[in-house]
Amino acid sequence: ARITLRQLLDHAAEHGYGVPAFNINNMEQGLAIMEAAAAVDAPVILQASRGARSYANDIMLAKMIDALEQMYPQIPLCMHQDHGNEEATCATAIKYGFTSVMMDGSLKADAKSAADYEYNVDITRRVVDMAHWVGASVEGELGVLGSLEHGGGEQEDGHGIEGPVSHDQLLTDPDQAVDFVRATKVDALAIAMGTSHGAYKFSRKPDGDILAMKVVEEIHRRLPNTHLVMHGSSSVPQHLQDEFNKFGGEMPQTWGVPVEEIVRGIKHGVRKVNIDTDCRLAMTAVFRKIATSNRSEFDPRKFLKPAMDAMRDLCRERFEQFGTAGNA
Ligand code: G3H
Ligand code: 13P
Ligand code: ZN
Repeated sequence: ARITLRQLLDHAAEHGYGVPAFNINNMEQGLAIMEAAAAVDAPVILQASRGARSYANDIMLAKMIDALEQMYPQIPLCMHQDHGNEEATCATAIKYGFTSVMMDGSLKADAKSAADYEYNVDITRRVVDMAHWVGASVEGELGVLGSLEHGGGEQEDGHGIEGPVSHDQLLTDPDQAVDFVRATKVDALAIAMGTSHGAYKFSRKPDGDILAMKVVEEIHRRLPNTHLVMHGSSSVPQHLQDEFNKFGGEMPQTWGVPVEEIVRGIKHGVRKVNIDTDCRLAMTAVFRKIATSNRSEFDPRKFLKPAMDAMRDLCRERFEQFGTAGNA
């Protein structure tokens, strides 16, 4: 059954669990997530980026979600737009059956600029007005995702921020978070605490200097009723890096967000945890393995089915670790 992000995260807050939001681009990822959810009775958030929508086509994606819902009627399912960049992206997502949208007004944000803060508030509030009229939820974002370790902001389109940027300018400011939530009425707030998208988040196991979970705690203390969202929350597990590299991959050693840090966040108001990279890596490590170890194989299903199984196992693990299991 399809539910909104607000309905799901209210339940998660009441029962003290977090919900992984897995990115979906194709049938195999959809099946993997739903199989995992059904195995452990977990509600799901499927999220599609703009890239996913153009890769799969909106009609295909919408029908795929309908099919997954029909296959798993017992699983509460929230369909979410990941990183909407403008009002039209959010409006068309809702038209295609998404029950939740992210209006990422921080995509454009220069951490230092008051004008960009006003832009973020204005556009997010307009999307909230529109979405709430038709019963959809909205996630906003405040702060700049990017590595504290490298001392520079990474805008989410991959371009760096000009000039030196201090820690404080990257991390979400708790005072501003209070103002932003009040002004926009968002259902969930994505905050910046030192994570970044992709596999290369940290060049060592992160400590409090580079992964600022204290910011999460402080914002939760100030906004106890706001559902917090962590982006860039892949853990980039060592065993997947090893498997990928064992079969000809060339991924330099990297560290993601340790699961125990996410679990700590969940104790402090984090309710939605975005994961894409781990799913990609779980699948492509299997592709590499089969391509290398069975060189005569050319049936795509012989690659895709075991890749799907690997992604399913990863999703199931996160449902269990975040306490999502048993809450469908
Ligand atoms: O926000 C990043 C997600 O991992 C989606 O990535 O834009 O390549 O689909 P994408
Ligand atoms: P990862 O790259 O860490 O999986 O983050 C995904 C994300 O934040 C999608 O919005
Ligand atoms: Zn993200």
